[in-house]
Amino acid sequence: MDKIIRLEKVDSTNNYLKQHCDDLDSGTVVTAEEQTAGRGRLGHLWNSNADMLPMSILFKDPPEPETLTARIGLGVCEALEQCPEINLRVSIKWPNDIIMENHKVCGILCESIRNGDKLNVICGIGVNISQTEKFFQNAELFSAASIAMLCGSAPNKEALLQLVAKSAILRANMRFSDCYCDYKNRVLNLGREVRIISANSEKKAFAEDIAKNGFLICRDDNGTFEVNSGEVSVRGANGYI
Ligand code: BTN
Repeated sequence: MDKIIRLEKVDSTNNYLKQHCDDLDSGTVVTAEEQTAGRGRLGHLWNSNADMLPMSILFKDPPEPETLTARIGLGVCEALEQCPEINLRVSIKWPNDIIMENHKVCGILCESIRNGDKLNVICGIGVNISQTEKFFQNAELFSAASIAMLCGSAPNKEALLQLVAKSAILRANMRFSDCYCDYKNRVLNLGREVRIISANSEKKAFAEDIAKNGFLICRDDNGTFEVNSGEVSVRGANGYI
């Protein structure tokens, strides 16, 4: 296992790796008991307490950075399924929300920093371990759940940290073409009506396939088009998935 840095409290584990990137090796993992200014996709907040597992992994000059986030999502699914407390299928809501029983149990935020002609990528992973239903209701996160809520008991955090880090790094070292079938098999939006939501528009389409570069291939009355994960959120026609 590569180096794991364990912190009591941090603003964001992604920020920590950004700030210390020059002094750390590729594959370094950081986690914290508490995260006070954690970030999610599309500007959302993702603070963490003892009921969650926030972690980030540093990848220096990784191959195929544009598909790294999808490969990390796949690695996280595989890690969760290896966890003894988890007895449910783990899927992906494209591009990389991790889903169990139609609920989001983990989110992934990959951020890049350019260093001359090299690109370093920090992959942040936030797993919902043992929050209660009340926690998510108070936070108005109606489509999220914790592993403990869905499986009846919480996984050991340290064991999960090691499993996720190992599996994510394994997939990060592979080509997307070698992950393609496994990734596609986990994407549960495929074959469904979806809403593609961006900052100022929303359109309905049918999610047909995953492109060789990880984009979502959709079809509407005007034909087929590809959706890039960058700025959009994809939901079901009538709900979360
Ligand atoms: C999402 O919006 O679904 C992505 C959430 C990513 C949260 C994780 S928690 C560890 C890492 N540090 C952060 O500030 N964000 C990510």
